[in-house]
Amino acid sequence: MSVSQQVFLRDAMRRLNLTRDVFAARIGVKRRALDTWLLPEGSQEARNMPEVVSRFVTEIVENEALLQKYAQSAQSGPLRDRISYNGKHQLLSVDQFSRESVEELFRIADQMQPIARRQKVSRVLEGAVLGNLFFEASTRTRVSFGAAFCRLGGSVCDTTGFTFSSMAKGESIYDTSRVMSGYVDALVIRHPEQGSVAEFAEATNIPVINGGDGAGEHPSQALLDLYTILTEFSRLGKLLDGAHIAMVGDLKYGRTVHSLIKLLALYRDLKFTLVAPKGLEMPDYILEQAGKRGHVIEQTSSLAEGLAGADVVYATRVQKERFADEQLEGYTADFQVNKAIVDRYGRSDAIIMHPLPRDSREGAHDLSVDLNHDPRLAIFRQADNGIPVRMAIFAVLLGVEGLVQHSLRDVTWNPPSHIGPDDSVFHGID
Ligand code: NCD
Repeated sequence: MSVSQQVFLRDAMRRLNLTRDVFAARIGVKRRALDTWLLPEGSQEARNMPEVVSRFVTEIVENEALLQKYAQSAQSGPLRDRISYNGKHQLLSVDQFSRESVEELFRIADQMQPIARRQKVSRVLEGAVLGNLFFEASTRTRVSFGAAFCRLGGSVCDTTGFTFSSMAKGESIYDTSRVMSGYVDALVIRHPEQGSVAEFAEATNIPVINGGDGAGEHPSQALLDLYTILTEFSRLGKLLDGAHIAMVGDLKYGRTVHSLIKLLALYRDLKFTLVAPKGLEMPDYILEQAGKRGHVIEQTSSLAEGLAGADVVYATRVQKERFADEQLEGYTADFQVNKAIVDRYGRSDAIIMHPLPRDSREGAHDLSVDLNHDPRLAIFRQADNGIPVRMAIFAVLLGVEGLVQHSLRDVTWNPPSHIGPDDSVFHGID
């Protein structure tokens, strides 16, 4: 570097047209660190930036395509406007994202990690109230959305099931949504009918998030799944472009895989192997959309064939509650992802995922517990990622993502160093 560090960084920010906050977030450093690098040489607080940062920034500003990519989002307004749905700050489908906007969301999720890991607290959503309306069974989605909102300083009101809501008295989606919007500042809704959450969203101007609409979509799950894949790949030294993804199980009614395959399709040159029992194959309209970008999509009913060479094995539960005239009772043994088949046909560096819950009842043949001690099993790390990703979604939709970094305070209690007794050291970002 022939110029001083300060001139070099100022020039980079100017060429990228980024504020200090956004620049720090884009290159993945703390604003405070950037501030110390920008102090005049010789001042007491001034620090030298690490060599790796200097090389990274040089690479961005010297490469036209990278310059465009890193500058673009800051020039085109807040993320919530770029991912809006019918002009509203709502999240109904993964179709609202581009590769750039999804990666921007993940940089915000990275900033949430110290809060998710109970090192820091923040109150940027103080005073805001979330309405969590779940008209279908849920454990992790409902609780993690609620916990994410609380960890940003907001509070949560819940309803669960039809029976205990006024819908059981015949109230319409329109009335429910309009009334709830007067009470709360954001809504997360899960409902058994495809398209129903969009109907809720139409009746209000407050942020509405689709927590799963029948066999339709589950965008926040797909976002945390993609975030997990990228985090695990980074640990393994792999890139998502060119990767091989196997999806196994009920691909017809599984809304998580519907959203995930469309989101993954934003990347380049992927190979998808779809392994489904007869009658539970991925619907054509999803295949068409994912296939448009030139990815290779193969369908098979042989698990061994599907696992061979896959970097990601994504297993799913049989969605029996959505069956129309299907006769299936559960998976047969030859659809079960277990240690024996993964050891025999899978890659040693594969990651094994599942949106959970897995059906652990006898005869269900869902993802086997005999993989629990296998480091390839990423399901609990995946579920844990629901918190930072959902915090990022709230921060963006409510427009506070720029306030998070400066709002962080140390926690006052002592959380355990590992969440579960079997958890190994966290492999994500520090
Ligand atoms: C999934 C769902 O509800 O779609 N669970 C979840 O949200 N993590 C998957 C399922 O129920 O099988």
